[in-house]
Amino acid sequence: MSLNKDFYWGASSSAFQIEGANRADGKGLSTVDVRPVKTGIADTSVAADFYHNWREDISLMDKLGINAFRLSISWSRIYPTGNGELNNDGLAFYDRVIDCLLDHNIEPIITINHFDMPQALIDQYNGWLSRKSVEDFARYTKTLFLHFGDRVKTWLTINEPLMLMYNPGYNGSHYDRADETTSSNFLILHHILLAEKYAFKLCHQLIKNGKIAPVSAFQNVYPLSSEYEDVSAALTAESILSYWALDVAVKGSYPKTTYERLNKLGLAPKVSHADEIIFQMDVPDFIAFNYYSSIHVGGYHQTEKFIPPFFNFPLFSVDMGEERKTAKWSAMSSDSNGLVMSARKLFDRYQIPLMITENGFADTEEPDDSKKINDQERIKYLQEHVSACQEILGLEIPLKGYFVWSFLDSLSGREGYSKRYGLVYVNRDDQDLRDMKRIPKQSFYWYQDFIKSQNN
Ligand code: BG6
Repeated sequence: MSLNKDFYWGASSSAFQIEGANRADGKGLSTVDVRPVKTGIADTSVAADFYHNWREDISLMDKLGINAFRLSISWSRIYPTGNGELNNDGLAFYDRVIDCLLDHNIEPIITINHFDMPQALIDQYNGWLSRKSVEDFARYTKTLFLHFGDRVKTWLTINEPLMLMYNPGYNGSHYDRADETTSSNFLILHHILLAEKYAFKLCHQLIKNGKIAPVSAFQNVYPLSSEYEDVSAALTAESILSYWALDVAVKGSYPKTTYERLNKLGLAPKVSHADEIIFQMDVPDFIAFNYYSSIHVGGYHQTEKFIPPFFNFPLFSVDMGEERKTAKWSAMSSDSNGLVMSARKLFDRYQIPLMITENGFADTEEPDDSKKINDQERIKYLQEHVSACQEILGLEIPLKGYFVWSFLDSLSGREGYSKRYGLVYVNRDDQDLRDMKRIPKQSFYWYQDFIKSQNN
């Protein structure tokens, strides 16, 4: 398989899932630091300890051969209270990481915010639920662009607004929304979408040759059957889950008929004239999307197999299948054709370049007797999905890169360390920090060979 040389073969991460050191050097707490954790030490205090191990980890990235690494910046390391004093030690940490990546010819691709909002902003005004968050996000973003913009040219705004709007552990919301989707979910999302517009504009104003994108948790939806009710529900689901946020980012307005339907249900946010003007500001340079597998949708209450609280909606129901409840979900419902279809849908609708910023396979893994992690299923999953990239490029879709989630075994948002995604094993579990040693899995060596074959 041959792809163009400018293509990014990368790996992905996010701050709270790898850094640890959640109180170090002036860092303020964020939503993910204070939410209840499942068990033991599956919290953000150590995670994969990237905060102290970054130099060694970047050497391993170099060994792997990736030409880009996606990381996120922790907002509360830079502004411990979200909108007060700047913490220069926080900037200095990311300076060291970015400079080291560049020394190794690995391009840093930075997500401005990946699920972790400063807790102080929740305490001040309920975080994204308040419009004040838009201004504070813009200020934080401006600081990043002015400080890092000479070295970092590719930026991603806010990871997966859809997941952020639903997950109270990430967005810090105080209301109980476990049983259904409420107008508060959509208000959170509305503020996120306004905030993104400022990020697009600031990037274009402040960073020479800067490029910026939203990051979608794109849902490729199949109807449960060819019955009208299921097909129609599938259309609605895709419109809400996948196009609602991206339409604002790229086209400047919500999808019209879907907006009207949600409005009738009292769920749609009010769009003021001032909002309309902000929505018409800069557009992104490309679309980043995270893809694991596809979903099946039927008419409301066609299936009992919801995964509450996600996607629990009065217009459609999602059947993610029993396997989605297990650690191996992304592989058991693996659908690399769905990646191709997602790219086709996105490119036809928006006609700007695409980047796959997350794709990966989760499992519960421990080294075998020979101290190896022989993760053949992950290798198969990755093989199928990089082949899908080739198919996408064959369709003349400008795909800029593919990033494996994730480089290191990182703290799973939902399952701590009982579920691992890394190309590199980290020797710890939910209860015991052991020695935190890094062990490249067999998939690491597979990806290394694959990248080499692309460079020849
Ligand atoms: C993506 C997120 O939605 O899914 C990652 O961007 C996350 O941060 C990944 O880790 C897998 O989800 P989880 O809950 O299994 O960690």
